[in-house]
Amino acid sequence: MDKISVLFVCLGNICRSPAAEAIFQSLINDKGIGNQFIVDSAGTGSWHVGKKADSRMRFAAKQRNINITSNARQIIEDDFLNFNYILVMDNSNFNNVVDFKNRVKGSDFAKILKIQDFSSIFTEKEVPDPYFGGDAGFDHVLDILEDSVSCFLENIT
Ligand code: 4NP
Repeated sequence: MDKISVLFVCLGNICRSPAAEAIFQSLINDKGIGNQFIVDSAGTGSWHVGKKADSRMRFAAKQRNINITSNARQIIEDDFLNFNYILVMDNSNFNNVVDFKNRVKGSDFAKILKIQDFSSIFTEKEVPDPYFGGDAGFDHVLDILEDSVSCFLENIT
């Protein structure tokens, strides 16, 4: 059986999308279905390429037993050909990713979706960018991602 490939995308790939990636990975590992998926994350911007996730996000996630281990990378053309799902955090990410996709030949393979469209509890339609805010913002991002990412998993399995 082909693996299902999932790419989470935000702006910097140091706060929201690495958290979403780690939450998804933890969920599928706990369910014993980790070997059925390829999971990754990327940013639309290049400022933080190669860096670990923001220490505030790593700390907040660790409190929930979620380990964020990824290093930032920027989204590339091949992602549109290699991933079944590209899940973005906000409307700006969505527009940037769709603009990029429209410049890539044969790129209709990946489904580009907003992760908050899967949320069952939270009414917010975007995952807010916590980077310039306080510590509570990181916990809030984790709260809403734990909901929407698990609902996404239920939706595709
Ligand atoms: P992310 O958060 O998109 O969730 O990784 C941000 C990280 C860095 C910046 C903005 C948002 N920045 O402006 O450097």
